[in-house]
Amino acid sequence: MRDPVVLSGRELASEVRKSLALEITATAGRPPGLAVVMVGDDPASGVYVSMKEKACAKAGISSSIARLPGTATQDELLREIERLNGDDSVDGILCQLPLPGHLSPDSVASAILPWKDVDGFHPVNVGKLWRGEEGLFPCTPVGITAMLDHYGIAIDGARAVIVGRSNIVGKPMAALLLRRHSTVTVAHSHTPDLQDLCSTADILIAAVGKPRFITPDFVKYGATVIDVGTSRTADGLSGDVDYEPVLEKCGAITPVPGGVGPLTIAFLLSNTVAAWRAARIRG
Ligand code: GUN
Repeated sequence: MRDPVVLSGRELASEVRKSLALEITATAGRPPGLAVVMVGDDPASGVYVSMKEKACAKAGISSSIARLPGTATQDELLREIERLNGDDSVDGILCQLPLPGHLSPDSVASAILPWKDVDGFHPVNVGKLWRGEEGLFPCTPVGITAMLDHYGIAIDGARAVIVGRSNIVGKPMAALLLRRHSTVTVAHSHTPDLQDLCSTADILIAAVGKPRFITPDFVKYGATVIDVGTSRTADGLSGDVDYEPVLEKCGAITPVPGGVGPLTIAFLLSNTVAAWRAARIRG
């Protein structure tokens, strides 16, 4: 059997970011604008938000961060979203998750105007995704789909198993692969015979947040394995896949770090630019 392909998200992310930067430079008028709302001071969220800010600056996207204290009320948060909804220089709004426990991520998702919803969490965008219509869709699953295309991995006709049913990754991933004619199963903590199920997959997507959960017994020979996990462990950052032994068995695999992670930010920029293009057309 030939060597497994290591799927580099860094390479594709860099191509996407360069092409967005070229489009922005070549377009007259105001640049795209992204507003990030951050509530509280979760250190990991702080790191992600500053990565997003830097990526925006490099691509020529103007970005702002609205920081609210961890004690902010739901009303205060919704007022901030309303302000950004009404700001014509803001094309995309993203509220960094997780939120402190007293705040509802669902009401935030519903409060952001659907055409500014660069996370793709608004019920209108979720509906469009499942109905096969155009809209703004969650960045990580969009990035994974782009990566499969980039490396010529067939989606049409593939058996895909997604482990994890979150609104951010598992469910939208299922919808995107279904739109592209995969046969999709979404597995989760109540799924019986998980190992047997996973080992039927041509494309196995692990998004459970359990370090090294997917061992070679879960993987069919030659399968494509996509690792969405990023857990901090005593040995550093760890994915959901037990990388070294799975590498011996699979046909293609994403490393952690350097696999899915860089694509999330690249496709956040891509969604922001898409929202900006649409705003230009609306005028
Ligand atoms: N926290 C972890 N991933 C995400 C994401 O994709 N969007 C937002 N808003 N917060 C996150």
